[in-house]
Amino acid sequence: MQSYKEKISRENLPKHVAIIMDGNGRWAKSRGETRTFGHKHAIQAVRNAVNACNEIHIPYLTLYTFSSENWNRPQDEVTTLMTLISETMLLEAEEIFTKGLRMHVIGDLDKLPELVRDQMLHLVDITKNNKRGNLILALSYGSQNEILNAVKKISSEVKNGELEIEDIDEKVFENHLYTKDIPPVDLLVRTSGEVRISNFLLWQIAYAELQFLDILWPDFGKEDFFRCIYDYQNKERRFGKTSEQLD
Ligand code: IPE
Ligand code: IPE
Ligand code: MG
Repeated sequence: MQSYKEKISRENLPKHVAIIMDGNGRWAKSRGETRTFGHKHAIQAVRNAVNACNEIHIPYLTLYTFSSENWNRPQDEVTTLMTLISETMLLEAEEIFTKGLRMHVIGDLDKLPELVRDQMLHLVDITKNNKRGNLILALSYGSQNEILNAVKKISSEVKNGELEIEDIDEKVFENHLYTKDIPPVDLLVRTSGEVRISNFLLWQIAYAELQFLDILWPDFGKEDFFRCIYDYQNKERRFGKTSEQLD
């Protein structure tokens, strides 16, 4: 049987895929293990997604790694997650670099432990000239907060006379988001069976295709990723037009 990777057309690839990596806790629970066990097994699934993306040259991949709401989890889980993120970054830095990936981090970085923040910013810095692809980690990220920050920055520019109200359009607004210079999301995938957005990229997914998978994140493999791309390619993206207009 043909694999999904072979079925994908190289013409109509999404430019930007974003993933809500959900279900680590349930994956662990179903095995009678602690939530930490699930988070540890999530790392291989992250590699699978990054590698799959790299193999077919999708230029932007955003991974929802830790939300602004996740700070409300029990303190020991937050600490475990921060340690895991930090260790994984150290271990994977070379691989990210040799793959030619440019790292970006979006979110309220001030809330991160200093070590994690410094590591992230270092990785962002040393990969800034890489051109093969972009890996964006959403860390301490909340979309409503991102939008509010943009509104505050724009308001202060108006107040200071640097910007006219009439000149505020979609482009100006986007330039004040964390995702400035990153194209809109074409495909949003969420694992774990939950059908919600959980405060992720609300502006950027305005016209994204949405896919909700019943698998739990630690089980996510490369073929799952390729299947998402295959399904994406079988959708007609009309952007408000009629089907006939697209022919
Ligand atoms: C996703 O898995 C990881 C993070 C949110 C950091 P969860 O930890 O949310 O797993 P479930 O949803 O409880 O199964
Ligand atoms: C969303 O998952 C955040 C990440 C995957 C990092 P959650 O598990 O935190 O989302 P909710 O709380 O179920 O909506
Ligand atoms: Mg969850």
